[in-house]
Amino acid sequence: MSEIETSVPGHPQFTRREGELFAEEVQLEALAREHGTPLFVYSKAAMLGALAAYQRGFAGRRARICYAMKANPALAVLQVFVQAGCGFDIVSGGELERVLAAGGQARDIIFSGVGKTRLERRRALDAGIGCFNVESEAELEVLSEVASAAGKVAPVSIRVNPDVDPKTHPYISTGLKGNKFGIAHGQALTAYRGAASLPGLKVVGIDCHIGSQITDEAPYLDAMDRVLDLVESVESAGVPLPHIDFGGGLGIDYNGDRPPAADTLWGKLLTRLDARGFGDRQLLIEPGRSLVGNAGVCLTEVLYLKPGEQKNFCIVDAAMNDLPRPAMYQAYHGIVPLTRRSGPAQTYDLVGPVCESGDWLARDRALSVQPGDLLAVLSAGAYCMSMASNYNSRGRAAEVLVDGDRAFLIRQRESAADQMRSERLVP
Ligand code: LLP
Repeated sequence: MSEIETSVPGHPQFTRREGELFAEEVQLEALAREHGTPLFVYSKAAMLGALAAYQRGFAGRRARICYAMKANPALAVLQVFVQAGCGFDIVSGGELERVLAAGGQARDIIFSGVGKTRLERRRALDAGIGCFNVESEAELEVLSEVASAAGKVAPVSIRVNPDVDPKTHPYISTGLKGNKFGIAHGQALTAYRGAASLPGLKVVGIDCHIGSQITDEAPYLDAMDRVLDLVESVESAGVPLPHIDFGGGLGIDYNGDRPPAADTLWGKLLTRLDARGFGDRQLLIEPGRSLVGNAGVCLTEVLYLKPGEQKNFCIVDAAMNDLPRPAMYQAYHGIVPLTRRSGPAQTYDLVGPVCESGDWLARDRALSVQPGDLLAVLSAGAYCMSMASNYNSRGRAAEVLVDGDRAFLIRQRESAADQMRSERLVP
């Protein structure tokens, strides 16, 4: 890297060159001028680089990386992972149709989620889904009924709740006793016995997912031990478990966070797996955020500066409907100007146009900005566009995928007509 090129912390493939911000070889300001703002920009090389860390970690193993597409379900993003040989973790019928539309195969999909409907199950069975991750005993019964009625046998894995604290935000912890997810560790053996006796089901594995934005390896090692204990007891009871699915959850660097690298983490987990004699088992994982989070930014324009008695506000054209994480989880996203100004910095709260006091993107940030300036909201590749809404009848943002020196508009900005398309006035 030359002296005039610096990387954006945590964001491989995003660099500053002679003061201007680039995604791979494409200048971000040019994209904002061409497509308008707010605009999500993703780097294909950054996604593939994140995936490569997992692939290195699993080299020589029987493993499948199933991208948890809830993190970013854009068709072109799915296409990147289809072409890279990934499977997918889905949680709805809509996600199933997206994977199929992007060229994915149903057999490479695992279907998670606590509330799958009969219709969704039937469609997934007809498509030839790889596995249902079942989250309750009630669900086992219904799935068996749906499969039998369709003359099929549903491949199932039970999501067990290992009761391990992932030490993350309470809204994104999922493997604790008080969470709605999975079947309790103590109940799992009974559930497996039940599953093995139901006519419409074939047990193919075991699954766990303890939470998201996990930056510590200890909860993973604990969860692995708890799951392997269960594998031993379930198999001793005569129910073989051909695959083990360890879920997703690995965190990214939002604000100096230091999660383990995927290959380092999996090096340790695989050593533990080997030590316990399960090293040759078929493995599945379901990473979402760690594959796409720091492969994307959201570009936004400064509309107004509004000095206040207690706070200075920098009002931008992106809002909580585009980037809901700060409002929902008090999440931190880095903010950087596309072009640096030399003037003195002031402390601002970055807020959007939505009529809610909770509509903020960043708080107490030192910025040197003027109206008309462009900013990049960092770490916006995961759980931003996928959680965007039309609140305040704001159309959802456009999305661009950069590949080397080429930039593709992968989703048009949503128009007012798009928003009203499925509505009807009464006669
Ligand atoms: N597998 C299952 C069953 C999941 O529930 C999730 C995420 C994943 C895999 C992927 O987890 P990841 O690798 O992305 O951490 N909206 C929140 C995150 C919610 C995560 C929900 N489940 C946020 O913006 O932080």
